[in-house]
Amino acid sequence: MIEKGISIKPAEGRLGVLLPGLGAVSTTLIAGVELIKKGLGRPIGSLTQLGTIRLGKRTDKRVPKIKDFVPLTKLEDLVFGAWDIFQDNGYQAALKAGVIEKSLLDQVRKELEAIVPWRAVFDQAYVKRLSGDNIKKGQNKMDLAYQLMEDIQRFKKEWNLSRMVMIWCASTESFLEPDEVHQSLKNFESGLKENHPKIAPSMIYAYAALCSGVPFANGAPNLTVDIPALVELSHQNGVPIAGKDFKTGQTLMKTILAPGLKSRVLGLKGWFSTNLLGNRDGEVLDDPASFKTKEESKLSALNYILQPDLYPELYEKVIHQVHIHYYPPRGDNKEGWDNIDIFGWLGYPMQIKINFLCRDSILAAPIVLDLALFMDLAQRCNMRGIQEWLSFYFKSPMCAPELYPEHDLFIQLMKLKNTLRYIRGEELITHLGLEYYD
Ligand SMILES: NC(=O)c1ccc[n+]([C@@H]2O[C@H](COP(=O)([O-])OP(=O)(O)OC[C@H]3O[C@@H](n4cnc5c(N)ncnc54)[C@H](O)[C@@H]3O)[C@@H](O)[C@H]2O)c1
Repeated sequence: MIEKGISIKPAEGRLGVLLPGLGAVSTTLIAGVELIKKGLGRPIGSLTQLGTIRLGKRTDKRVPKIKDFVPLTKLEDLVFGAWDIFQDNGYQAALKAGVIEKSLLDQVRKELEAIVPWRAVFDQAYVKRLSGDNIKKGQNKMDLAYQLMEDIQRFKKEWNLSRMVMIWCASTESFLEPDEVHQSLKNFESGLKENHPKIAPSMIYAYAALCSGVPFANGAPNLTVDIPALVELSHQNGVPIAGKDFKTGQTLMKTILAPGLKSRVLGLKGWFSTNLLGNRDGEVLDDPASFKTKEESKLSALNYILQPDLYPELYEKVIHQVHIHYYPPRGDNKEGWDNIDIFGWLGYPMQIKINFLCRDSILAAPIVLDLALFMDLAQRCNMRGIQEWLSFYFKSPMCAPELYPEHDLFIQLMKLKNTLRYIRGEELITHLGLEYYD
């Protein structure tokens, strides 16, 4: 039993949510929050808004809402700011994204129009399929980082914000191997001054956030903050970081289903996944370099969940394929197809088919909201560095170098809720339950 929990600074004043990228996910988040504030929608899919947490014994019947258990910023106190390579304001960008219908967007048009994106730090070398004109110019990458820090300070002053968080909701960048320049803060800062090609724009945003004391979470599969240099900076400045790649759609289904199959020690021969996606994200991912970043992120989950080294006869030879097809008529409403070849008693084969007609940004928006609120909570608890307890939200969760990432959604949820119990000094729940039968 933890006696009293962690001291938490109160969630007083406004929280600024800084969003690199004002595309489908960001506009669906902002429009959603504004609609919810007006009572025109419900925050479905958001653990911070609708989730509950059991405390103590089952017989105690103490099950508060998470938002009543830990002090989180209220939706009324959120202020959004964004960068994008296009000049479209939040309303125009939301219309183009086509996720929420116009009649609903019109009810929050004023709030969306007020979000005019700041000039972005962008280089087409890292996102081949995009070109825009709302882009910063600078002497070198360090200079660009300083310009981002100025944006952050201006935003804070303009809205009289108490705190801020930054969540990367911009396009997926080309695949980057970890490099010497990422290995220490010293190397990284020299690299910024020398325009090192292995420092991608997303890393410049992350650097600017951490230098400004702003927690940073990465919704895309890019390396970004998942490099020793920026982990070092997060510790040095006492700032929480998290990533990578929002867990929505197909990978969400994978991390729900695979732990179930493994729990019943059923074997797996192959998992074939394909996606039809017609939004701008799909267009960017149509480029092989951006797709490679996504593929790495999507492929890793199964291996970690199934642990083929421990269960060679069940999972050693799994063929796992992931494909993404850019098919414009589908828009943001992605279609995911999974064919799963499993085997049971005496090796008899069986098949499972999943056809998930999902809405990518509808699944992603509540994740961004929860991350903004939980990253801010973490900072108010003086938690710094990698926030592994937020793995629940990511396809490729960041973790300490000596650990493997935890992908099983149910272990992730238990970890998240136990962290909240720990913060508040409540007993952790082990689900042992023998005491009920003594
Ligand atoms: N929607 C989901 O379910 C989901 C799940 C996991 C990850 N993601 C990731 O989230 C990100 C956003 O997805 P989306 O559907 O909103 O994509 P989107 O293409 O609609 O929006 C991305 C926006 O980022 C802008 N952008 C690109 N580079 C930028 C830069 N350097 N600075 C500022 N802006 C920049 C683009 O102009 C675009 O408007 C993508 O990386 C995507 O892979 C989305």
